[in-house]
This record gives sequence, C-alpha cells and structure tokens, in this order.
Amino acid sequence: MLLLLGLFNTAFSHSPPARMGSLYTGEARAIATMQIGGCGVGLHISSRRAAIAGGAALLLPTTRLPSAAALPPFAGRTVVITGANSGLGLASATQMAAAGATVILAVRDASKGAEAKERIRAVTQNGALEVSELDLGDLSSVKSFAKRWGDRPCDVLMLNAGVMAIPQRATTEDGFERHLGVNHLGHFALTARLWPALKKAAAGGGAARVVVVSSDGHKKGTIRFDDINLEKPGAYKDCSTPFCSAYTQSKLANVLFAKELERRIPPGIEVAVSSVSPGLVNTALFRYSLPDLKADVGSGALVGDPDGSKLRDLQKIQAYFMTPADTAAQTQLALASDPKLDRAAVSGGYYVDGKKTPPSKEADDAAVASKMWELSERMTGIAFVPE
Ligand SMILES: NC(=O)c1ccc[n+]([C@@H]2O[C@H](COP(=O)([O-])OP(=O)(O)OC[C@H]3O[C@@H](n4cnc5c(N)ncnc54)[C@H](OP(=O)(O)O)[C@@H]3O)[C@@H](O)[C@H]2O)c1
Repeated sequence: MLLLLGLFNTAFSHSPPARMGSLYTGEARAIATMQIGGCGVGLHISSRRAAIAGGAALLLPTTRLPSAAALPPFAGRTVVITGANSGLGLASATQMAAAGATVILAVRDASKGAEAKERIRAVTQNGALEVSELDLGDLSSVKSFAKRWGDRPCDVLMLNAGVMAIPQRATTEDGFERHLGVNHLGHFALTARLWPALKKAAAGGGAARVVVVSSDGHKKGTIRFDDINLEKPGAYKDCSTPFCSAYTQSKLANVLFAKELERRIPPGIEVAVSSVSPGLVNTALFRYSLPDLKADVGSGALVGDPDGSKLRDLQKIQAYFMTPADTAAQTQLALASDPKLDRAAVSGGYYVDGKKTPPSKEADDAAVASKMWELSERMTGIAFVPE
C-alpha cells in the first residue's frame, strides 16, 4: 500500500493546470480512495508511466503492457457492443471493426453513437458499422432493440456499458436501483432477448461469445437479497467512490450472471460465456462522482462541462496511472475472438489480464448465482431459458 501511495504522490507531484482547480482535487480524492482501499489490485502501469512515476514504480508489478497482437479475422461476423461510444466499448468496437467484423454500436444516445461511428470509420476504413439505440435503464428500450434485431445471428455480445459511483441513489425507468438496473438487469434482459441470435450464430459453426465486463470491485460487493434496490437506511453507501455499495453489488451480479448462464446452457451449444475485469482504465467512468463534471444521471451527459474540456483535463491526469482503454480492452477482445478461448476453455470463468482468475467467494457460490438468476427473471419479467 505504501508503494501505491508513493506512486500516487510521485505521479501527482506534477502541478495541475491552474484552471483544473477543484476537478483535480476531486479526481485525486477518488483515485486515492480507490488505491488505498484495495481496488489498487487493478492498477496497471505502462513502462512509459513507470518512467514518469520514478523509482517507486520499478518495484511495482507491471501487470499489463500494450498488446500489439492483431485480432483474428472477423469478416462476416456480427458483434454487438453495449456502451460502444466511449472508453472500453469504443476501443473494443474500433479493434473489432479493424478485424473486419460488422459492429453494432448499442448506445443510449444516437448522436454520440454516430460520432463514435465516424471516429471508428476514420481509423479503420471499415464501413460495416451500425448504430442502434439501447437504453439499459429502460426495459422497453431493450425490447425494441431486440425487435429491430430480427432474426440475424449474433456472434459476439459484449456486455460492456456501465455506470459507477452515482452519489445519490437513483432509479431506472423500471424503478430499479440504477447501478443494478443498467449494469446487470438491462444486460440480463438483452442477453435473454438476443439468445436466439447467439444460438443461431453458434449453430452456424461460429462459436458465439458472451463477454460480461465486470470489475475487481465485485470483491467488495454482496448481493442484498433482502433489499436488492438498496432502499433501507444506510444500504446505499460510499457512493461517491468506486466502492459504492450499489456498484460493487452490480459488478458481483455480472460475474454471477456469467457463471450461471454457462451452467444453464446445455452441452452442445457452443456459446462461450465469460466475465472480465479490465483493471483501472482511463475512461469517463468517474464522471458521476466528480462535482466539476456534473454528469446527468439520466442521460450521462456532462452538463457541467458542455465542451468536454474538463473531461479531457481529467483524462490527462488519469493517464499518469491508469491504463489506456485500447490496452485495457485486450482481455475482453481476446475472450470475444480468440479461437482457443472456446466454451470448454472459459466455462463461465472470470478473467483479469488475459488470465482466468478466482473471483470472490460469493461470486463462486452456485446457490447465490442461481438465486440471483431467478430474482433477475422476476424483476425483468423475462423467463430466460438458454436452451
Ligand atoms: N474504467 C475503469 O477503470 C473500469 C474498471 C473496472 C470495470 N470497468 C467497467 O468497464 C465498463 C465500461 O466502462 P468505461 O470505463 O469504458 O466507462 P465509460 O467510458 O463511461 O463508458 C460507459 C459506457 O456505458 C454507457 N452507458 C451508461 N449508461 C447506459 C445506459 N443506461 N444504457 C446504455 N448505455 C449506457 C455509456 O454511455 P453514455 O456515454 O451515453 O453515458 C458509455 O458508453 C463498465 O461496465 C465498467 O464498470 C471500468
């Protein structure tokens, strides 16, 4: 921990630009909390940043370096990525498009989706990109997405979108606590509705994949079956930090979902399911808890930063000690595309830095996973039988 603090101090000895003011303070507080409290397990530092941070970093494990490995060719295959307009989703969509996939950018804001599509096209020259609206905080939007999907096969479903650290408890359109609703229940409903499409891809010999983007933060989480929407006094706690009880519960639900989906898929259906922790990544995920950005919970828009300059400043600071999204996305991309990572190999496993890793004890508890599945069915009103 001291080493992490040393690195933190060294990395922050650079003076922030004067106009960053309280943004710098707020961001520093969030990251300090993260590292001191234990999520520093997910800290990754590139060699360039290690050099910047000085000698302390030499003693830290360099757990991930940028990968130059190209993905296997994906021409003719169809990939759905939720939250593909930003961060890890945008990085994944770009690399999948570069590999030749048809990529469906499943986003809640069509104009952000169109902007992302143009950025990806400019980089990859791949025109096989579609934007399709999907608000995971609204089950009717999930239903509409699936209806528009029709009977196409889906080779890869990357359940990537997420929200973190919403300071005040908020709910989705359907009345669910917002982290659980967006991060887990919306994705549960989407997977159920796209199941025929995944099966179709698998039957075509494509070996379909479901990749659930979770977090090592799930280890701090527990499923509150007695109060799943965290309504009781004190249940919604630490929610200006990445240890937000609602976030860690939702990320635990992600790992449980991957494991239970694998258990429920009968033998012979080649849909490989896995969950992933991407580490500590330089994205906009921290936007809700930082007062200077003032992100709107309903839309995700940065109302306190209309021209995006404060977010850019934040990401410049984060770049000192967080992994770039295109590097951090390598594990979820490998699980989506590596022929060796088939159903038999991954079998619902939890992956960190490209390696299968034990999740928390609760995440490994089959009884909890089954109970959570049944609760998710009741909450979404969808009987999900993955056969
Ligand atoms: N960054 C990290 O350090 C880190 C660590 C561990 C795990 N993760 C996980 O990585 C995943 C991707 O996050 P990120 O770091 O790339 O953050 P990000 O840049 O903020 O991306 C989050 C994405 O989720 C979308 N989203 C949020 N609410 C949504 C909703 N109701 N319906 C549909 N899409 C919605 C966002 O859309 P808008 O742009 O419209 O808001 C955005 O595209 C998340 O599941 C997160 O929990 C990240």
